Amino acid sequence: MLLKAALLLCANAALSMAMYSNRDAVVELTSKNFKQEVLNNDKLVAVEFYAPWCGHCQKLAPEWKKAANNLKGLVTVAAINCDEDSNKPLCGQYDIKGFPTIKTFRPSVNKKGARTKYPTDYQGPREARPLVDHLLSMQPSNVRLIKGDASKVKSKASIFLDDFLETKNSTLPKVILFTDKPTTTPLYKALSVDFGNGRLLMGEVKKAEKKVLDIFGINKFPTLLVLKPGEDNQPSVYDGKLKYQPLYDHLSTFALESTNSQQNGKTESKKEKTAPAAEPYVKPTVEELGTNETLQKQCATSGNTICAIAIVTPEEKDESITLLNEINDQNTNPLFRFGWMTNDKAADIIKQLDLVEDYPGLFILHASKQMFRPYIGAWDNKSITRWLGQIASGRVQAFTYSGDLKVTDTGAIDDKLEQQTDKVADEKPVRDEL
Ligand SMILES: *[C@@H]1O[C@H](CO)[C@@H](O)[C@H](O)[C@H]1NC(C)=O
Ligand SMILES: *[C@@H]1O[C@H](CO)[C@@H](O)[C@H](O)[C@H]1NC(C)=O
Ligand SMILES: *[C@@H]1O[C@H](CO)[C@@H](O)[C@H](O)[C@H]1NC(C)=O
Repeated sequence: MLLKAALLLCANAALSMAMYSNRDAVVELTSKNFKQEVLNNDKLVAVEFYAPWCGHCQKLAPEWKKAANNLKGLVTVAAINCDEDSNKPLCGQYDIKGFPTIKTFRPSVNKKGARTKYPTDYQGPREARPLVDHLLSMQPSNVRLIKGDASKVKSKASIFLDDFLETKNSTLPKVILFTDKPTTTPLYKALSVDFGNGRLLMGEVKKAEKKVLDIFGINKFPTLLVLKPGEDNQPSVYDGKLKYQPLYDHLSTFALESTNSQQNGKTESKKEKTAPAAEPYVKPTVEELGTNETLQKQCATSGNTICAIAIVTPEEKDESITLLNEINDQNTNPLFRFGWMTNDKAADIIKQLDLVEDYPGLFILHASKQMFRPYIGAWDNKSITRWLGQIASGRVQAFTYSGDLKVTDTGAIDDKLEQQTDKVADEKPVRDEL
């Protein structure tokens, strides 16, 4: 009994030194591994800058661990002790003024077309559930949505089946997931990032793509096929467990080596040159405008902000967000901010602004001037970018509206949130499903 108490005391003493141990899923960062773990990869990384003596940090620690356990394999959840002398220059470089500070590092493509990682401050509640939801909403993806009909390809997120099969087909192994889920799962997105950079080409076929299902004779969901090059494209069906580790191990046996000598075209060589640099300019990320507060924060922060808001159906969500991210990454005009909401949450706004119920749709909102304008045109990067340019130069007239715009409260969402609360309370990685 006495011995046990003594051990507990020791454990407590040790805890007050470092807040995280290697038993947690939290990656402990140092000045030595920061580049490797945070900057030199394509994963989404959330970093907590902390000091062990700070009360708010101690309060955050159990929530941070919970979030890390939930997101294992999907998003890197990390922490750096800024009280440690060797870490101080790094914390200074990121201009950390208070503890804890949470920054997310999401891969994107900068103006020069090089891949980079911008840090963005996380300002939301410091609890596991909202943290997990926020990080999953920002999760990068290399999954291409495969269409049986070339006219349905509207952004880089989707690809015509023939083009998918032809892509470097003499060398590049391809993976196809047939799914009845409306959106790409966090697990599949994470795998697509793990095997990005030309190691595997990963695609997804929705249940509605009957033509493609027929070609491959698929009638069961989910089904995962690997097409090995050089073997007449003969598909092999994966029949193992649909969990992160077994899937990762299976796909590793097909994936090309992740060496830089690979001929992966421009992206790869550009990436090598620029990856280590952390860019000081903080670019706003594409946000889900799912609550009145986020709509207010994203779109009414300063008098000049013009919000470009996409309204999407759950089925179109992934593709539309990818398109918005593409446009946001290339946008150099600090006036613009990008966000999206699902059509059920936009119901009141659609009524108030008399928007056409045709999805995906887009409108710009100049909240401080109470002006808006719906976009009419092709749903692709080029057309939307051109229109935003016309908006910025004042060549498009906007309409006025009155009153505040409100996000519709949808009952169904509450249920979903409750389910997620239960899941997050359980410390097992519950999003580990395909
Ligand atoms: C790619 O695959 C298609 C169909 O299997 C085949 O007809 C074509 O010759 C292949 N192209 C190359 C470059 O291997
Ligand atoms: C998007 O459109 C812009 C302007 O037309 C173009 O410069 C850019 O390369 C396009 N980006 C992608 C990812 O297609
Ligand atoms: C936003 O505010 C309106 C009115 O203040 C309210 O009716 C609505 O439920 C709120 N939306 C959400 C998602 O909470």
